[in-house]
Amino acid sequence: MARYPFTSALVTGASSGIGAEMARLLGEAGVPTVLVARRVDRLQEIADRYDAFDVLEADLGTADGRAATVERITSDEHQIDLVVNNAGFGTSGNFHELDVARLESEIELNVSALTTLSHAALATMVPRGRGYLLNVSSVASFQTAPGLAVYAATKAYVTSLTEALHEETKGTGVHVTALCPGLTKTEFQETSNSDRMTTTLPGFVWTSAESVAATGLGDVAKNRALSVPGSIYKSAVAVSGITPRFITRRLSGFAR
Ligand SMILES: NC(=O)c1ccc[n+]([C@@H]2O[C@H](COP(=O)([O-])OP(=O)(O)OC[C@H]3O[C@@H](n4cnc5c(N)ncnc54)[C@H](OP(=O)(O)O)[C@@H]3O)[C@@H](O)[C@H]2O)c1
Repeated sequence: MARYPFTSALVTGASSGIGAEMARLLGEAGVPTVLVARRVDRLQEIADRYDAFDVLEADLGTADGRAATVERITSDEHQIDLVVNNAGFGTSGNFHELDVARLESEIELNVSALTTLSHAALATMVPRGRGYLLNVSSVASFQTAPGLAVYAATKAYVTSLTEALHEETKGTGVHVTALCPGLTKTEFQETSNSDRMTTTLPGFVWTSAESVAATGLGDVAKNRALSVPGSIYKSAVAVSGITPRFITRRLSGFAR
């Protein structure tokens, strides 16, 4: 069982996939955790398995959902020292053919809600002199992704923001990490309309939600700026950093 330095946590998008695995790891390690998502029945099912777990039904695409989550993060009564901004989704297809309202919702969740909750977390943790913020980005944040263009752009924002916050909070006692998973089998593929990838791509490109969750929680405890689970994705990120943009752009276009 992993041992963590966190005393209490809040995980968004805890009803499935990577967030549910984080909830499980935190529960097994005895860290009281608030689970946030829209499907409250799923959250309750997880919360019932562990001591001192709580659920918060919130649609982070709405101002009310964000306000309720901010209230929990900033509460002095029930102090939270690990915030995981994990809720997010993508939309696969040619940009000009996609529903623009859906793309706006994607930006609202992946960018606006994450920014609001990161602000609430750091405004609370920095004066306390301790805390942990883990923002779930993607390896897609390191290059453009034709066919998932808005998604990759939102994740480029998440990685950029989080790396900047990591530097800004140096010496404050607060750890800030961007978790950048590669392909991970979760409900993400169905939600983003990219589930054909689960049958067309070879097994070795897939990472498990459990290992992604464990790597992210371990790396924010160590205050790593970037957390990239899996050796193939670590290598891909390293190579993309030294490869001319026109080549990475074309390669990601071929992978559609
Ligand atoms: N799977 C991958 O290949 C992959 C790769 C790189 C990065 N990621 C990132 O990993 C994170 C987790 O994704 P996942 O793969 O675990 O996908 P997932 O299984 O679809 O989980 C997404 C979670 O986000 C929650 N969510 C969606 N919309 C929400 C909203 N409006 N308000 C509150 N919660 C909302 C969902 O809960 P409800 O529907 O119950 O609200 C669910 O718990 C995302 O940020 C994703 O971009 C995934």
